[in-house]
Amino acid sequence: MLTRAAHAASGHGGGGAAATLLAWYDRSRRRLPWRAEPGATADPYAVWLSEIMLQQTTVQAVKPYFARFLALWPTVNELAAAPIEAVMKEWAGLGYYSRARNLHACAQTVAQRLGGRFPDTEAGLRELPGVGPYTAAAIAAIAFGKRAVVVDGNVERVVTRLFSIEDAMPGAKPLIRARADDLTPDMRAGDFAQAMMDLGATICTPRKPACAICPLTDGCSARANGDAERFPVKAPKAERPTRAGAIFYARRADGCVLVRARPPKGLLGGMSEFPGSPWSADFDVASARDHAPFPADWRRLAGSVEHVFTHFALSLTVFTADVPCDAPTPEAGRWTPEDKLEALEALPTVMRKALVAARG
Ligand code: ADE
Repeated sequence: MLTRAAHAASGHGGGGAAATLLAWYDRSRRRLPWRAEPGATADPYAVWLSEIMLQQTTVQAVKPYFARFLALWPTVNELAAAPIEAVMKEWAGLGYYSRARNLHACAQTVAQRLGGRFPDTEAGLRELPGVGPYTAAAIAAIAFGKRAVVVDGNVERVVTRLFSIEDAMPGAKPLIRARADDLTPDMRAGDFAQAMMDLGATICTPRKPACAICPLTDGCSARANGDAERFPVKAPKAERPTRAGAIFYARRADGCVLVRARPPKGLLGGMSEFPGSPWSADFDVASARDHAPFPADWRRLAGSVEHVFTHFALSLTVFTADVPCDAPTPEAGRWTPEDKLEALEALPTVMRKALVAARG
């Protein structure tokens, strides 16, 4: 059920809310280098380039990169002709480097297969490398004036507040999209999308939204209830799974300790660790010694080393042994002086904790 305030904000073609927001945009729009002047048509290349750069990156961070790319490669054909190494070098610092590879691949597709012209429909745009549903909708609306429903994080926040959408994210996404669709006008959908973004970035901010100066304040359900900051509602964090394992701290008579490199890809890729078992949910400490790098008088330390990664919590049991100088060196293992472990080895925090425990 919509509240009365939310009803006032809805209505297809945007109704009052879209007209009000567009009037606000005409007065208050941010001047951004990729935006056309009012009434002018935006350059699809500039719109596409800015939208790819703005994925997961802030407007402030993007501005100098955008300017530099346009100066070096003013058209999509020139970008397509550039060596990938040059594109990667200019992208350095923006992060998420697969975006740069896709950017170049997309430029080549447009230059070589589409005669240098971007498709002007959402469906056509979706076919391009690196262009997902959000980006396709944004380009179709902003560069080609198509009616497209553009939903980014700003739009999600504005819409969940306007309608007091209580469903938690990300489950609320289809409902948010439907409400955004209701709001989107047939004309000026690109300006409308950017107006929603500007509203979200400058007024309907995640914390301390400036409801008093918001153009949509009269139609906003959350404003009426005085709880705008509550939206969008986030799902309670799922409990982190736990894993456990064992590591083996072999101290050789000459003062060296056995370490090895982790596999190059994946968690802590390429970093150093003390040899040990795999980390698993069903690790059984009773058979931990099966994972020792070689037979020795392995003594189990009391307690465990605890570490929390993004996706799981880890509990490591530490075994230590004093071993002779002719102890074997397992494949991929190396011996590093104990007093230089921190200086010479790329030890991740979890292994530094294990080191502290093993040294006692
Ligand atoms: N974030 C992503 N696209 C944007 C745009 N066109 N204007 C402002 N912020 C944005």
